Amino acid sequence: MQRINIFDTTLRDGEQSPGVNLNQLEKLEIAKQLERFGVDIMEAGFPASSQGDFEGVRNIARTIKNASVTALSRAKKSDIDISWEALKEAQEPSLHIFLATSPIHMTYKLKKTPEQVVQIAEDMISYARKKFPNVEWSAEDASRTDLDFLVHIIEKVIDAGATVINLPDTVGYSTPEEYGYMFKYVRENVPNIDKVVLSAHCHDDLGMAVANTMAAINNGATQVEGTINGIGERAGNASLEEFAVALNIRNNVYPFTTNLVLNEIKRTSDLVSKLTGMPVPANKAVVGRNAFAHESGIHQDGILKNASTYEIITPELVGVQSNNLVLGKHSGRHAFKDKIEQLGYQFSDEKVTEAFKAFKLLTDSKKEVTDDDLFTILTEIQTDIQNVKKYELLSFQVQYGSSNIPTATVALKTPEGIQVETACTGKGSVEALYNTLESLIKEKIHLTDYHLSSIGQGRDALAQAHIKMTVNDTTVSGRGSAQDVLEASAKAFLNAVNRVFFNKKLEEKEKETAQL
Ligand code: KIV
Ligand code: ZN
Repeated sequence: MQRINIFDTTLRDGEQSPGVNLNQLEKLEIAKQLERFGVDIMEAGFPASSQGDFEGVRNIARTIKNASVTALSRAKKSDIDISWEALKEAQEPSLHIFLATSPIHMTYKLKKTPEQVVQIAEDMISYARKKFPNVEWSAEDASRTDLDFLVHIIEKVIDAGATVINLPDTVGYSTPEEYGYMFKYVRENVPNIDKVVLSAHCHDDLGMAVANTMAAINNGATQVEGTINGIGERAGNASLEEFAVALNIRNNVYPFTTNLVLNEIKRTSDLVSKLTGMPVPANKAVVGRNAFAHESGIHQDGILKNASTYEIITPELVGVQSNNLVLGKHSGRHAFKDKIEQLGYQFSDEKVTEAFKAFKLLTDSKKEVTDDDLFTILTEIQTDIQNVKKYELLSFQVQYGSSNIPTATVALKTPEGIQVETACTGKGSVEALYNTLESLIKEKIHLTDYHLSSIGQGRDALAQAHIKMTVNDTTVSGRGSAQDVLEASAKAFLNAVNRVFFNKKLEEKEKETAQL
């Protein structure tokens, strides 16, 4: 069976989702999980777009050993040079250059003739090939490009040295028939097409991204691109986990294999959702909370008699455990350490101690600690902002009732090490808490989004708060978890504010390195 390459762009196209703002530690965590998941190529960012992106890509390039690391570049020498600096230490560096080919984009955005576009594409591919062993070229807005022009430019860029040709449905406009036909036409009409990998990249504006991806596979695509949970620009990209499972379950229709480790899907999805603050809808295919829940009596009866009556995907296939109750009050450090290793974390002794303390604290008030709870605690510790002077929550109290004015009292330690305390009111308990925190923090804060979810089920479930805010006009997101919703909310607030200090420290470090 032919193998399809899996190209993940969660950290580039996915990170372009409105409001998503990952820091370097978080990007690295996702990259490590993508490596465990078995993707062939991961697009780590767009190095020329910002210093932060450059550093994020370089970190990932230095760390990842079992996947090719790539980055996005405009068809410009300066972008290519910057990308090389970010990627040159990767085990398998590759570059992804894009240039629009549709009449709309060439005329209005690029203001170039088709001949000029061909020339730029050829020049930049051959320039990039002097540095990179592999160069992917994307015909941006390919699905609205004249097919004969597409055939012409693809032939030229392959001659110039492109090793992968990607045909994106940039605006999510195509139907499966049209998108499949474009791949068939290109396969049949580009004389040198067999020299390259042919890739599909779909957006979900009309809800057809996965269907379009599958149509491309059946018409000659040998690589497919997507993001975890389908996050991305506007309505998002093709959900990688959805097309991966479709290839597996409907192998009779799509006789292809991949290198993916499918039972890492749930964990990858959870991590991306947690770190981006983008919740997965309960009814989302493959990874939604209800994807394996059978509600109707008739369905439940069928499932009990024979699971295949109503279940086409087993939860185990994608790493959903039906009974993930793990450790409790009496579990010792040894069992805890074993468990976190099983969950794939490599913690220093110091971090194990910190995590064990947090776990013990949780068992005081929660009888059953599940994998999901542990995953939340461990991810928080793994991505904690450390070695930075920051705001720390010392204590808080909120008075709330149906007949009084909600009032919060908070004590904080400032980044300068000073203890401050005050009380404020609000229209609700969270507002009172946030007003108080805001009044103790020197930075200019504007809250733009807040949401609360529970980890798992039950009255004693952990609460997780996600917020977005601007701090001194920089957009940041934050998250915090605790058994109490107000404590989770306070932690999320401070986590967002402290990111500004973390980013500042990173910038200073980068400047120092640049001067050396
Ligand atoms: O959707 C798109 O066209 C892209 C390109 C940059 C490949 O993401
Ligand atoms: Zn895209």
